[in-house]
Parts: sequence; C-alpha cells; structure tokens
Amino acid sequence: MFVIRFFQTLIVVVLLISSAWAAPSGPVVVSSPDGSLKTTIFVNGDGELSYKVDRKDQSILQASTLGFQFRDVPTVGSDCEIVREQERKIRETWHPLWGENKTIVNNCNETTVFITHKNGAPDAAVTFRVFNDGLGFRTRIEPQDGFKDYELLAENTNFVFPADHTAWWIPDNWDTYESIYSQTPITKIGQVSHPLNPSHTHGAARGDAPHGCNTPVTLSTSNGLYLALHEANLTDYAGMTLVPREGASPTLKSQLVPWPDGVKVRGEAPFLTPWRTVQVADTPGGLIESSLILNLNEPNKLSQVENIRPVKLLGVWWSMHLGAETWGMEGGRHGATTENVKRYLDFAADNGFDGVLVEGWNTGWESWYKDDNFDFTTPYEDFDLPEITAYAKKRGVELVGHLETGGQIESFEKRLDATLDQYKKYGVTSVKTGYAGQIRPAGQYHHGQWMVRHYRKVLTEAAERGITLNAHEPIKDTGLRRTYPNMMTREGVRGMEWNAWSRGNPPEHTVNLAFTRMLAGPLDYTPGIFDITFANTGDEYRFWNKIDGLETKGRLHSTLARQLALFVVLYSPIQMASDLPENYEGHPAFQFLREVPVDWDESKVVNGKLGDYVTLARRQGNDWFIGSITDENAREFSLPLTFAKPGKYEVVIYADGKDADFQSNPTDYQISKIKLNTRQKKSLKVRLAPGGGAAIVMRKVD
Ligand code: NOJ
Ligand code: CA
Repeated sequence: MFVIRFFQTLIVVVLLISSAWAAPSGPVVVSSPDGSLKTTIFVNGDGELSYKVDRKDQSILQASTLGFQFRDVPTVGSDCEIVREQERKIRETWHPLWGENKTIVNNCNETTVFITHKNGAPDAAVTFRVFNDGLGFRTRIEPQDGFKDYELLAENTNFVFPADHTAWWIPDNWDTYESIYSQTPITKIGQVSHPLNPSHTHGAARGDAPHGCNTPVTLSTSNGLYLALHEANLTDYAGMTLVPREGASPTLKSQLVPWPDGVKVRGEAPFLTPWRTVQVADTPGGLIESSLILNLNEPNKLSQVENIRPVKLLGVWWSMHLGAETWGMEGGRHGATTENVKRYLDFAADNGFDGVLVEGWNTGWESWYKDDNFDFTTPYEDFDLPEITAYAKKRGVELVGHLETGGQIESFEKRLDATLDQYKKYGVTSVKTGYAGQIRPAGQYHHGQWMVRHYRKVLTEAAERGITLNAHEPIKDTGLRRTYPNMMTREGVRGMEWNAWSRGNPPEHTVNLAFTRMLAGPLDYTPGIFDITFANTGDEYRFWNKIDGLETKGRLHSTLARQLALFVVLYSPIQMASDLPENYEGHPAFQFLREVPVDWDESKVVNGKLGDYVTLARRQGNDWFIGSITDENAREFSLPLTFAKPGKYEVVIYADGKDADFQSNPTDYQISKIKLNTRQKKSLKVRLAPGGGAAIVMRKVD
C-alpha cells in the first residue's frame, strides 16, 4: 500500500528504489551515495541502541545513544538487539512549485533497523537516510501489545561530538524564536545570555528544565567542517530543543517542549518521530545550499495549487510599529482605513508589486489581552472590505489578509471556518497569521505538540480554500512546504520590527540568520527600510524601548544598500518591502525593489563566514541577483562570477556610498551601471561599508 502510494505521488520524477532485507551480524553501516559519509548503528556494551557518524576518516558524531521513555512502558532503546535491517536507495529529482531552486536532487541511502527488547519494551524501527551532505533518522513504533495509546515522557536522542565545537544558537524559549544568536562552545549552549536578548528569553514557566538552544543550531569545527542540527517533517509531535549534557565528550541531548502536565507527546500508535537531522559541509555556504530538510519531507499533497505563487508586497504595517499609525481606532490614527489602503494598493500597482498586507482592519485590537476579543471577520467602521477587495482587483493587485490571534487558540479555532470562508469569498488568497503573546489556554507553548497540531490544522484548512499562509510566532519550519506548498513563509525570527521598538538587531544578526535560521526554510524578516533612523516619523509617536531597563530610540543598524541586499540574502517567497510608500516614492534605489524577483531558478552562496559576512547569488531565467552583507566591519570582495553563464551582461550595482557607515552615515549609497563579459571578466569588486551591503543586478544581454 505504502509503495503504491509512493509511486503515485512521484510520477514526474526519476526514482530508483532497490530494497534488501538482512539479519545483521554486527553493526549496521549506511554510507552516503558518494561514500564520504558513514553512519554506523549498533547496540553498545550496555545494551543501548547507538549510532555514530564519520566523514572521510573524521568523526562527526561519536557513539551516541537513542531512547524513549513512555509512561508505564520499559525504556525503548535499552536492553535491546537489532534483529533485522532493510535497505533502500532513493534517487529522485523533483521540482518544487516555488523556491530557491527549480530542481532538487534527493539522493540518499536508507536503512531501517528493527529492534526488539529484553526489557519488555515494544519493538521499534529506526530509519536512517544518509545523503552526501548529512543524514536524518526517525523512529517508528507500530501498535502492539502494551503499546496503543501512549504518553511520551522523554526522548533521549544524543549527539556526542568529538570536540567542543563553536556553536551559533538561540535560547530554547518554548514560545519564541525571536532572539539574537550567541556564539559559544557546545558545552556553554544555553548557559549564557546575549546582552541584546530580553531577560525572559529562556521562557518563564519552565520549572527546572535545563536551558539549551533551539534548532537549527550551527557548529564549526577546528578542522574546517560546518554542521547543523535540526529536524524535518514535524507533524504530530513536540518541537525539539537541545540541551548540553555533562559528560566526557560535549553532548547535546533532545529536550521536547511539554504539555501543561509535563507529557511531551501523546497519541495513538503508530508512534512516529520527525527526522532528526545533521547537516555536514566543507563551507558554511554548503549548509545553505543543501536541500536535505526538504528531501526528508513528503511530496506535494495538494492538487489545488492555482493560487500558490510567490508575491512581493507592501504593507500597512511599519507605520504601526513606528507608532505613527495604530492597529485599533484609539487616538484617531487608525492605519487600515479604506482611503489609506487604496493609497497603498495604488502604489503597489504602479510599481509592479503583487499586493498589500493590511493589519488592524478587524475589530478587537484595543482589547487584545481580553479573552475572545477578536472575531476575525468584523472590519472597523472605516475599513470597507468589499470596496477594498474590488478596488484591488481593478488595479490588478491583491489584498493580503491578516489574523492576529494574540495566542487565543480556542477562540480562533472556533471561528476558523468562518474566517477563512470570508477571505475566500472576497478573493483574498494569501493570509498572514500571528500568535503574539502567551498561548491561551495557559500552560500550552507555541512549540509544543498541542500547538503543532493547531498550526497544521490552520494550514490544511487554508489549503482547502486555496489560501496560502505566512505564520508569525510560528512553530519552526521543518520543510513542510514540500508537502503543503501553501505554507509559504513564516517569521520565527527576530525580524525588522525589533528595530522599531527595541535596541534593535546588530548588523551581524542578519549575517548569522543566513547560516542558522534560514537552514530551516523561508523567513519573513521584512527588509527594505529606507528611512534608517526614522527621521521622517515624528518623535512624538515613537515607542521608546524599556526592555531590560534600557531606554533607547529605535533605528536600524544598517546602511541603505544593505536593505536591498537582504532581499536576495534572506530567502522568502513572500517579501514585504516594509517601508512606507512616501519613503520609496522617487527614491532611485527603489528601482532594485521593483525588479528583484521573489522566486528563483537557482541559488548559490558566493562567499560567507559565520558572524562576519555572506554573499548569495540567485538566478531567475538568465539574470542573476546578488546580495552581499557584512557585520560591523567594512569589507572588500572580489566576487567570482563563475556562477553566471559565459556571456555579456548589463550590471547595475547598488553599493554603499564612499562615506557610508551604518552608525554615522547610513543612507549614503551609489548606483553604478557597467557592461561586462564573463568570458573576460571573472570577478566583480564590491566594497561594503561597516554594517553595509551591496545589491547587484546582472542581466544577460546576448
Ligand atoms: C507581531 C508580528 O511579528 C508583526 O509582524 C505584527 O505586525 C504584530 N505581531 C501584530 O500582529
Ligand atoms: Ca513577531
């Protein structure tokens, strides 16, 4: 049955599967297709199921145990033996509806080991898939005597490293991913706080659960390798965090986000974990170019895909974060008025954008913290939904919907059908959701199983109505967009908004995002602010940040050219140019935002160093768009153009001005136009100012 369905859904790809069964006589070895990566699965001297990973004679992971503690069930993975193994080869090429690359190769060798227990624990199967650039493994337990309804109390997946590698990580807050990345040895993960993260960043009500990090966490080794740990296909399970464990070797151990009663995962057998993933690359850019997370998800399940397309938006949004307009009607500065929205729609239509996101159009914002305050369908009196959607249609652009739930899940679920039906009725095909604040009912967390189920429910309900989603305060991305391509993008990142009302994001932050958060999938950072110091917004409106007792006026820590570069560096199929139309109007650099695509045929990392700089080149058709960003240090690059087809190009370079500096002179920029032939000219010089960047358009002309 499984095999038949598998073939049905993969009709358009080349797939070769060979399968072999055997009873293992010793450790089971799974090698990558190119033979460079080797995973060995075995039972250690204490009877514990274990695995280790090597790459060309280097140890990636030393003997690491795997196990599960269910309520009233002996430990799975202890006192066990491997009784059987099954092998498959997966050789597949597939084409996502949208993404960083139009063609994705899924080549790996798969082995499932079947274990039985002497301690009376249920039989289990652990499947490993080993790719050239990493591996994934997951555990499955079929229903059997003594294992039907289960309650998982702990997953004990260990990652034991041969050395205390450098790690880039965010705290394992159970409600938010909106943190600055810290750089420490593995053994210090979760043990220090970044000065820019709010003091609650580890989360409040977590009892005595040890502190650690969320995933993806990225590591660099002293012998020049880069690793990233994450998970793929998180479907009906709790989000996995990682905590360092005391022991001889640096070890990270899984810690799942709990239900209010402490149970981690509950359900009815079969029990199936998401894939636990380890990416391995010779360069930090290799991690970005990998498709391992997507390949560990199932093929597209949606047949109704007409509305699923990447879009470039403007938003009635930033003005609210600045305080110049409001989400609600209080104070007479309501942003989402019919007139204002039409102004945005006109600006979008006139400049080749696809639509406008509008927040604060529905009632309830004044009483956000009251239960049941939003009904998600009633517009404020100065917002005419039928008129606006008809106007948008006339202008050939879209209204993008918004649903801020304030974390009130039961209230939202009660109204979900009516809410999505209303959007469908008015032809709104793209909706942003939000879950700011603590989850109600209290005791549930954004990253626990209960919320994973909620996010999935919203996704599938939206899919049925041909609606695409952009979730804010989401569960982390684990590659689900392959299966549900209406899951376009999500936040789960300390994005632009933090510059409006906190001490902001240092230049290094967006560099690090490319090598960490972006490995999970698209991120709705919302770049594109031109008024870097908010000079055009009166101080009287501005929020003043009091986080951690520090009062500071908001501003960006960026140059203007860098804002353009972020559209290429930080991938998202929904990109919202986040500044106000009046800050774009007539600005020469706005031309780049008009032109930059939101969907790509191919993506390449040109250079990069964690914490320092990164350059990406992305292709649409024969044209390349390049984005390069640096930390607080100026840099000069000679960018190799080997990614581009040989030939003639017209090149426009949006660079930092001679005197640009993210602190003292952020808006100094220069635009230069040149013609070049990549047959003769093999590289391009760019200079990035401190906190700066460069955005380059290369259009093929022959
Ligand atoms: C937080 C989201 O990240 C932001 O984009 C949104 O504007 C506010 N919540 C209000 O919903
Ligand atoms: Ca947010």
